[in-house]
Amino acid sequence: MQEQTALPRFSVPQEELDKQAQYAAMVESVLLSRFPVRRPRAFVHTYGCQGNVADGEKIKGILESVGYDLTEEIDESDLVLYNTCAIREHAQDRVFGNVGKRKAWKEADRSRILALCGCMMQQEYVAEKIKKSYPYVDLVFGTHVIHKLPEFLYRCLCSGKRVFDLSGGEGNIVEGLPVHRDGTFKAWVPIMYGCNNFCTYCIVPYTRGRERSRRPEDILAEVRELAENGTKEIMLLGQNVNSYGKIKAGNIGYCYKDEADGLDFAGLLAEVDKVEGIERIRFMTSHPKDLSDDLIECFDGRLAHLCRQIHLPVQSGSDRILKKMNRVYDRERYLERVAKLREVCPEIAITTDIIVGFPGETEEDFEDTIDLVKRVRYDSAFTFLYSIRKGTPAAEYPDQVPEAVKHERFDRLIEVIHGIQEEKSVWYQDRVLPVLVEGPSRTNKRMLTGRTESGRVVDFPGDPSLIGRIIDVRITKAQTFSNYGEPVV
Ligand code: 5AD
Ligand code: SF4
Repeated sequence: MQEQTALPRFSVPQEELDKQAQYAAMVESVLLSRFPVRRPRAFVHTYGCQGNVADGEKIKGILESVGYDLTEEIDESDLVLYNTCAIREHAQDRVFGNVGKRKAWKEADRSRILALCGCMMQQEYVAEKIKKSYPYVDLVFGTHVIHKLPEFLYRCLCSGKRVFDLSGGEGNIVEGLPVHRDGTFKAWVPIMYGCNNFCTYCIVPYTRGRERSRRPEDILAEVRELAENGTKEIMLLGQNVNSYGKIKAGNIGYCYKDEADGLDFAGLLAEVDKVEGIERIRFMTSHPKDLSDDLIECFDGRLAHLCRQIHLPVQSGSDRILKKMNRVYDRERYLERVAKLREVCPEIAITTDIIVGFPGETEEDFEDTIDLVKRVRYDSAFTFLYSIRKGTPAAEYPDQVPEAVKHERFDRLIEVIHGIQEEKSVWYQDRVLPVLVEGPSRTNKRMLTGRTESGRVVDFPGDPSLIGRIIDVRITKAQTFSNYGEPVV
């Protein structure tokens, strides 16, 4: 790997980070004096995608570093923070509902702090609504200023005034923040932030700013540290990981002197694959338009730890709709990429995202989607009803699909997807597969649960000492939504 010399253009200056460290120390002493008997408690809830979950882990890390204990008991907390998602109206409605429910909690003790952050806050009309209609919300900040949380807390605690900071639309890269990892054996590792694609339905490019990549050495240092602390599986995260590091493509991330010096995503994967102790590598999300041959070839077995699994959102199977969505590929190209993936790695598991009822979607367009789903035979698919996002081009399209039609198509699509999943379950029956043991089963605490390389959840009996190991499990009952097995000893 080439030596990195230049600094990323969008890094936050060291003076700013030093200032935040000072604020953190000041918050810690304020909290110590206000809570002489017990430590203050913080409840953090994150909505939405894995990128937001990774932000949530940083927020929790900062809160712990200034003296809060994390709690699951919302009513007993001294600080509640909702890390919000703007991807669909429904996600936003839930946040407003939950903020509404916090009114009594806040009024019972005005020194409590109610905070909101995340993508939803990055939309002006939402921040305005919070300002006017939810006066008991103390702190609102956007996706680009998480590192300033110590300062925000200090201002809330000491001035008693409301704090709003939604600045920094283009976005930063901040290294070195404390992280509270939710998992022990699996970890999220963001490799890039933002999105340049402007799919016409999507709010993310407006809330998360332009694409910017972390420097490879920062990513690798984080992965090494995780491996040393026992992490077995990492998920490399970005809205469009396939354009990692590409300055020429408009990515404003780390600054190699020229693109030829830099690592692209396939190159980064190869480096991550060499980190000792990491046994499974996954990544998401891949944009089909940028899925290069180089990346596909990473699945040919050359990378020992790369899971044979890819999430490849198609969104629609209709060329007309794909064009209106600004997805930049057509169904033929998508099917060709899938064929190439399967040629290189016949057993690869493929999952996708599909939007039903995009403006102008006709019955014929929808049938093209059904047809594509039947051709690809996805291992699983996340399906979404199109949701109007204020400020995106598609919100202005005149030919919105009636709700009843959307729902009817949605149900038909789900039926096809489930049918395929059921057929695919047959492949798993009686097979012995490596499973990363994640912990006790959610449904039966006496059982263990884990995931296959393809991402299927399997429950099986076993000793808790197996947690964190990859063991062989024979699948004794393979079903669409749950699988049972027996460890092979
Ligand atoms: N309506 C419905 N689904 C959406 N997604 C993104 N924006 C919208 C929207 N406005 C879906 C896409 C994306 C996934 C994360 O969310 O399928 O891949
Ligand atoms: Fe949204 Fe498209 Fe960017 Fe994904 S690639 S975050 S769907 S604009």
